[in-house]
Amino acid sequence: FSLKRYNTFGLDVSCHAFIEVTSVPELIECCQLLQQQREHFLILGGGSNLLLLEDYLGSIIHLAIKGIEVTEDTEFYYLSVAAGENWHGLVKFCLSRDIAGLENMALIPGTVGAAPIQNIGAYGLEFAAVCDWVEYLELAECNIKKLHADACEFGYRESIFKQQLRNSAVITRVGIKLPKSWRPILSYGPLRHLPVDSVTPQQIYDTVCQVRQQKLPDPSLLGNVGSCFKNPVIDANTYQRLVALYPDIVAYELPDGMLKIAAAWLIDKAGLKGQRFGEVMVHEEQPLVLVNLGRASGAEVVQALTTIRARVQQLFGILMEPEPRTYGAHGERGI
Ligand code: EPU
Repeated sequence: FSLKRYNTFGLDVSCHAFIEVTSVPELIECCQLLQQQREHFLILGGGSNLLLLEDYLGSIIHLAIKGIEVTEDTEFYYLSVAAGENWHGLVKFCLSRDIAGLENMALIPGTVGAAPIQNIGAYGLEFAAVCDWVEYLELAECNIKKLHADACEFGYRESIFKQQLRNSAVITRVGIKLPKSWRPILSYGPLRHLPVDSVTPQQIYDTVCQVRQQKLPDPSLLGNVGSCFKNPVIDANTYQRLVALYPDIVAYELPDGMLKIAAAWLIDKAGLKGQRFGEVMVHEEQPLVLVNLGRASGAEVVQALTTIRARVQQLFGILMEPEPRTYGAHGERGI
């Protein structure tokens, strides 16, 4: 079974079996069966944040559970959304019903169930800020559990689902809570020029879509998984040392005094824009993104990631951490 259509990087790898599930009971049954058979499996949502580097020697469960429910009280809208819904579809659904609050996260590829895992975020807003709860299937006992947002240990591209619950939980449903007293978030560069008193959610949505379409390659046209590294966080001393050498370094100060460095700038400065590794290329507009020129292989992706990481470390002394999850023949693996 070829997975080319099911991962946005478009890697042509295979798996033993591909199983699509459309309900929670079906998911439970499927996981129980595979566990009894001692078959390795992994869960696939939109396939937009994983790199399948080799043929996978196990089964893949494609989560296609659908449904959006909306309730409200005087202060909030409450959305209960099944994991298989498309994230951008949810953003549009909300906008069409005058439910504001997700517009900064328009056009992020992937499913709703994947959103909490890496705490997706863009243009000044993170999933953590709108999350109410996360429901998941705990694989060891095959029980459904629910975590309140406060217990999800959200951080920058981090959550409990990448740490303690890594590979032991399958997110089935997500709760989102949006205040009816909407306030625009215009802190991020390209949104700063919008008028804070009169801006509408639609205008923010349109601007975000426009910026993303300009900078980020459309995965349906040019295979990619968005940013390939996290923006590294460094301490003030390291920053002082670097800024003396590179006065134009791009950094954002964090509340705890640490600094988040634009990985795109590091890669750009390292002269890697447009660099090719066989069929893998460092994108010209946004060098944090790798694109598949057509027939990229897992080995070329590994070569690109390791070369970029090594060059940046050599030049700046900063070790960057890959952002998408990387999988080999036997499951998740590092690069
Ligand atoms: N830059 C360069 N050279 C370039 C392009 C950018 O030096 O060729 C510098 C610019 O100074 C720019 C800075 O890099 O201001 C940051 O670029 P950008 O605004 O595109 O954001 P980013 O930090 O690279 C992050 C997220 C994106 C998200 C955007 C917008 C991560 C790893 N990436 O990218 O998320 O869309 O901010 O909020 O945090 C993703 O996670 O897959 C993703 C695309």
